[in-house]
Amino acid sequence: RPRVLSGIQPTADSFHVGNYVGALKQWVELQDTHETFYMVADLHAITVEQDPPTLRSRTRASVAQLLALGVDPERSVLFAQSHVPAHSQLSWVLECQAGFGEAGRMTQFKDKSARSASAEHVSVGLFTYPILQAADILIYQADTVPVGEDQRQHLELSRNLAQRFNSRYGKTLQVPEPYILKATAKIYDLMDPSAKMSKSLPGGVLDLLADVKKSVKSIKSAVTDTEREVRFDEVNKPGVSNLLTLLHVFTDSPIAELETGFEGKGYGDLKGDLAAAFTAFVEPVQAKVKTYLDDPAELDRILAGGARRAREVADATVRSVYEKIGFLALG
Ligand code: TYM
Repeated sequence: RPRVLSGIQPTADSFHVGNYVGALKQWVELQDTHETFYMVADLHAITVEQDPPTLRSRTRASVAQLLALGVDPERSVLFAQSHVPAHSQLSWVLECQAGFGEAGRMTQFKDKSARSASAEHVSVGLFTYPILQAADILIYQADTVPVGEDQRQHLELSRNLAQRFNSRYGKTLQVPEPYILKATAKIYDLMDPSAKMSKSLPGGVLDLLADVKKSVKSIKSAVTDTEREVRFDEVNKPGVSNLLTLLHVFTDSPIAELETGFEGKGYGDLKGDLAAAFTAFVEPVQAKVKTYLDDPAELDRILAGGARRAREVADATVRSVYEKIGFLALG
């Protein structure tokens, strides 16, 4: 079976619909056909300041959400990144292969650092963040990496670093392919359909763990346009198209079929249907999250099992990388 690796940061109290539709839904589906490694990227989280107790509780809540959404710890290796020291080990090696210029071209770094008040507040870790992400992927020799559109550039860097290592030292690292589904790779903010739905933009974000009544309200107040026709047209009708994409995901109906169904109806009907479909999806997820969070010892046990299995694969890659670059074997 081809191998999958992906990760998500524990930097919010809840995952949002963009995370689910853009990535996590694919994580769950790929379990049927691939050997899957999924991690909570706590090392990445500390590239910006984190309150320690909050980081701990968000990491557990992230695991609970992944389980509730259908990541199955029997079929997937589910773990916390910090439990596998090899990520940091390979990251250092890759940092020594990566150019300062190519790291500086990463748009996510440029955006995040531009938002910071001064250069002193931007950590070196935020700069090397994509190289750690490359290590996450390459250390498992992953073939396939399911992510949203915003991670495409980081995936390209991972591919370049793997190819560079292989051409310098001989074939060692698998060159990964991004798995980005065009139709759902970028979910937009409900209040500003020109912006990506993002935890750093709290306006029109649909959080999975938010009070469902509040989410229904956000859906009903989503920004649309001054026409009346429910039609998929990303250029001229970004708000309506975003709602149609979400309705498509939560009802499993093709967009064209949805458009036909809304003929002669209006945006209120579209929003009403989406509110109902989202509620039906999210209520059982919330109930399961609650059950998992009631038993933190079980969550920690799952993570321990995942770390054990992850370390086996990751340590083997570090051993072969260390040998190739000329480190002495431990006698
Ligand atoms: P993160 O934690 O920001 O987001 C997790 C996943 O959600 C996707 N996503 C979206 N997809 C569609 N529309 C949106 N509005 C939207 N917002 C977020 C992201 O693309 C991502 O797939 N650097 C990564 C975490 C990471 C990782 C890795 C991913 C660390 N190591 C190795 C893959 C492989 C990140 O910050 O994702």
